[in-house]
Amino acid sequence: MRVLGIESSCDETGVAIYDSEKGLIAHALHSQISTHQCYGGVVPELASRDHVKYLVPLVDEALQQANLVKTDLDAVAYTAGPGLIGALLTGACFAKSLALGLNKPALAIHHLEAHLLAAKLDSPELDFPFLALLVSGGHTQLIEVRALGIYQLIGDTLDDAVGEAFDKTAKLMGLPYPGGAVLAKLADQCSVEEAKILAPFPRPMTDRPGLDFSFSGLKTHALTTWNNSLKDEKARARIAKAFQQAVVDTLLIKCKRALQQTASRRLVVAGGVGANHSLRESLKGLLQELGGEVYFPRPEYCTDNGAMVAYAGCLHLLQGKKDLNWAIEVKARWPF
Ligand code: KG4
Ligand code: ZN
Repeated sequence: MRVLGIESSCDETGVAIYDSEKGLIAHALHSQISTHQCYGGVVPELASRDHVKYLVPLVDEALQQANLVKTDLDAVAYTAGPGLIGALLTGACFAKSLALGLNKPALAIHHLEAHLLAAKLDSPELDFPFLALLVSGGHTQLIEVRALGIYQLIGDTLDDAVGEAFDKTAKLMGLPYPGGAVLAKLADQCSVEEAKILAPFPRPMTDRPGLDFSFSGLKTHALTTWNNSLKDEKARARIAKAFQQAVVDTLLIKCKRALQQTASRRLVVAGGVGANHSLRESLKGLLQELGGEVYFPRPEYCTDNGAMVAYAGCLHLLQGKKDLNWAIEVKARWPF
């Protein structure tokens, strides 16, 4: 089975082809960073227009990479939500039209499910069940993944998602969009001792039981610290380090709790913040300490991409799933 995957939920146009026997055979991506950078964040209408512009050339590129023609495809999977409504519609309209034209099934994929399954792209030996930490621009969740399609949410954020907190903290210190990765780079260049000069950053909600998160207070703490500083390069780097350390410690404490609560030995990290070097190193240490295994998708499969959509589509297709009608239905909000 060969499944074309299309991701267009936000500011990346991702296209990939997954072959159930050979694995991933094509992967093409267009990032819209340069389109949105001067606005300091994603402009939804510009995102939609950019997806329209890049979908056809990216599909052609993916087919060329795989040495295939469209009729060799067995299905077209697309992100149906959650995400920006206009951006989702471009991918869904394109995917469904292509599937209809080819007389092949279309598969609506939940963006977060695609993120959760992405670790299996590089680690096919990873079996269900596992615990997943989903850390993206819109979500911070702990999920028990029991089997394909059977997910139990056990921890969630009460306010800002962790990626959102990274982005907002970067922005308030004048760092360019997309701030998360820039802030992380700055943090990695600052020593622990250097960051200790600042008053300690909180580890939100770790002093009480439960698996929920809250990151907006941490972002406000960063803002206060920034406003009381000299607002220079040194202050920026120290705050970046202290903020990242607080986030990583908080995630670590909650992951340890969740692993113990669910008696799970396998942790999968998914979503854009999963690309964070410090988080990856700390979680590796935790799972070593607990005698378990941690799985990360490679960084380009952590952020939005078509590979995870093609892969999730292929797994569902093999289980007999497909869209039951040709109406275009996408969801900006779609609880997991
Ligand atoms: O999963 P993703 O690509 O898109 C969503 O579905 O949200 O995640 C994007 C988020 C952004 O908030 C971005 O700043 C953050 O992931 N991010 C990072 C890093 N790389 C991306 N945050 C911290 N450290 C990174 N290295
Ligand atoms: Zn995402």
